[in-house]
Amino acid sequence: MKETNPAADPIGQNLIKLTSNVCFSVFVFSVLIFTVIAITYQPPDPWLESAPALTKLFTQTENATFKIDDTVAKTGEDLQTETARAVSPTADIKPITDEMIKKEEEEVSNMTLKSSGCEDLEVVNCSDPRVLITVEKFNLRLFKSIVFLDYQTPVHGSKQDECDVSWRFRNKKEKSWRKYRDFRRFKFAIGDNCSYKIVHAGGWHSGINARRMRIRVNSTRSGGKNPRVAPLVRDDEINDTIPSLGSETNFRKGKYLYYSRGGDYCKGMNQYMWSFLCGLGEAMYLNRTFVMDLSICLAGNYNPDGKDQEGKDFRFYFDFEHLKEEASIVEEGEFLRDWKKWDRSRKKKVPVKKVVTHKMTPMQLRKDKSTIIWRQFDGQEPENYWYRVCEGQAAKYIQRPWYALWKSKRLMNIVTDISGRMDWDFDAVHVIRGEKAQNKELWPHLDADTSPDALVAKLQGMIQPWRNLYIATNERFYNYFDKLRSHFKVHLIDDYKELWGNTSDWYNETTLLNNGRPVEFDGYMRVAVDTEVLYRGKTRVETFYNLTSDCKDGINTC
Ligand SMILES: *[C@@H]1O[C@H](CO)[C@@H](O)[C@H](O)[C@H]1NC(C)=O
Ligand SMILES: *[C@@H]1O[C@H](CO)[C@@H](O)[C@H](O)[C@H]1NC(C)=O
Ligand SMILES: *[C@@H]1O[C@H](CO)[C@@H](O)[C@H](O)[C@H]1NC(C)=O
Ligand SMILES: *[C@@H]1O[C@H](CO)[C@@H](O)[C@H](O)[C@H]1NC(C)=O
Ligand SMILES: *[C@@H]1O[C@H](CO)[C@@H](O)[C@H](O)[C@H]1NC(C)=O
Ligand SMILES: *[C@@H]1O[C@H](CO)[C@@H](O)[C@H](O)[C@H]1NC(C)=O
Ligand SMILES: *[C@@H]1O[C@H](CO)[C@@H](O)[C@H](O)[C@H]1NC(C)=O
Ligand SMILES: *[C@@H]1O[C@H](CO)[C@@H](O)[C@H](O)[C@H]1NC(C)=O
Ligand SMILES: *[C@@H]1O[C@H](CO)[C@@H](O)[C@H](O)[C@H]1NC(C)=O
Ligand SMILES: *[C@@H]1O[C@H](CO)[C@@H](O)[C@H](O)[C@H]1NC(C)=O
Repeated sequence: MKETNPAADPIGQNLIKLTSNVCFSVFVFSVLIFTVIAITYQPPDPWLESAPALTKLFTQTENATFKIDDTVAKTGEDLQTETARAVSPTADIKPITDEMIKKEEEEVSNMTLKSSGCEDLEVVNCSDPRVLITVEKFNLRLFKSIVFLDYQTPVHGSKQDECDVSWRFRNKKEKSWRKYRDFRRFKFAIGDNCSYKIVHAGGWHSGINARRMRIRVNSTRSGGKNPRVAPLVRDDEINDTIPSLGSETNFRKGKYLYYSRGGDYCKGMNQYMWSFLCGLGEAMYLNRTFVMDLSICLAGNYNPDGKDQEGKDFRFYFDFEHLKEEASIVEEGEFLRDWKKWDRSRKKKVPVKKVVTHKMTPMQLRKDKSTIIWRQFDGQEPENYWYRVCEGQAAKYIQRPWYALWKSKRLMNIVTDISGRMDWDFDAVHVIRGEKAQNKELWPHLDADTSPDALVAKLQGMIQPWRNLYIATNERFYNYFDKLRSHFKVHLIDDYKELWGNTSDWYNETTLLNNGRPVEFDGYMRVAVDTEVLYRGKTRVETFYNLTSDCKDGINTC
């Protein structure tokens, strides 16, 4: 988050950049909202009508009355519709339901009746199917916001009467089909009627003995009697390696759309997404492979020092594995290497069509047979923005593939961890302060309405006493919310620092991605995690509409 006072910036480049960012973000989100509505109503073209007016708003850099909205980070999964979810690859894994458990119980009781009966039930036997059934019933009753997908056979905990159980699940509030893993420790007692009962259940990730058993699955090993006990697949591992084209002939067989770096570089993350999805959308329209630069420049407003940071990996923020599945892409470095190799070794060069202006539309390129279509963005801003390709008539034909762009699974693991530690039973409040609270001209009441005393007064009317309360905020002073602590169990992202600290999985995995150099948990990652935890809250309180009557985009905009 930018700490410096923007008024102190020299007027000039900074201001132009800031204001264009500002207009941009407003633009993107209005279009996003518009799109979501548009999808529901199935109009002939959601983009077309709005495009000219929005473009004007976007490209004018004067008299911007908006501040960049860097307090939420929305990606495809937050915009996804129900229908998109139906075609998920997990459609084959059925959620566990009461009926399934009942059927299984019957099977087991038939089995035990035939054999010895109840006398064997003296010690807790973790591999006894009745143990698993007991846990399944318990979980289903307790965690209403969770969809349980599959369990592994329980293993022993640290004591005789304890079992560690691991399962995969989805959160009903997450619209992607991604799965997460939990493993907990349960303490059992023997009940009446050949039954186990749970006397204590451990918290999130407490069942460490069931954690990721790295046993190779032997192909002969079947699922056993219980078809819902999955083989030990290592789904926790994220495969976001950079795909290679393989041989040179493969390269020559392909058709590519290559965008050189344009004016979007180092602009805000919203503009990045807006532009990237335009390029990817054009590639899909042309049935071409999109050449992708995985190196991102993170705009200064997400960095404490306010400086742009280059060399950030796409995979720190977004789910590259999912993108690979949804779209045909090739990494720029791989692509350029193969291209050069080909041109060097053959007399006949690879056919390339160079396109120097965004005014050349995707429709005009439809018939082009060149192996590579190379859009160069060498002009002045804003002529050199990628998204300009998708304006005007092109908006009729090109749809941004939002469904292909999800947040990084590594960040989502942190989100799941935070909400799992609260057993998904928490309320959330979004407290926007930062620059907006300083700007009394545009947001005259925001500062006062989000003051500690005002928060205590307002939240008491909306949230039950002593509930878990997650505060998503851009307020950097940790103790700012202390007054709420005498009414609620307050949770802030900084309470979970160890999830990205140097002993965390996240740290290990991102360091590996980054060629062994540790990766900073930066401002955009914070916002991404904050946003997603916020969305999982049971009761959600927003700054605008709920805490203050000021308008989101400044005075007189609502
Ligand atoms: C922009 O603001 C300046 C000074 O605040 C004002 O003189 C000018 O008329 C405004 N321009 C537009 C197009 O509103
Ligand atoms: C269990 O046994 C009863 C009666 O013997 C039978 O009707 C039922 O179908 C059996 N259930 C299963 C799942 O095998
Ligand atoms: C535990 O239960 C499994 C499955 O019912 C059985 O095969 C095993 O012999 C039992 N172990 C003990 C020690 O009772
Ligand atoms: C034990 O089973 C019998 C018959 O199936 C039932 O009537 C009784 O309520 C059960 N007791 C408990 C404690 O579940
Ligand atoms: C798996 O298969 C290998 C040989 O392919 C065998 O040596 C090993 O014991 C098997 N492991 C299990 C758990 O069955
Ligand atoms: C990772 O994904 C690539 C395709 O993108 C595939 O070729 C490769 O085999 C996968 N690696 C693993 C370990 O699954
Ligand atoms: C892309 O492929 C689809 C289906 O294969 C086809 O209908 C469409 O005309 C193709 N578009 C172009 C630009 O070749
Ligand atoms: C992790 O960070 C702590 C505090 O920042 C430091 O004392 C420790 O040496 C670090 N450990 C590793 C393995 O880098
Ligand atoms: C991180 O990696 C180091 C070295 O590869 C390993 O010793 C450590 O156990 C890992 N930490 C986690 C949390 O996986
Ligand atoms: C926040 O405001 C919206 C819109 O006015 C309202 O629907 C919602 O119930 C409010 N939330 C709470 C927790 O009061």
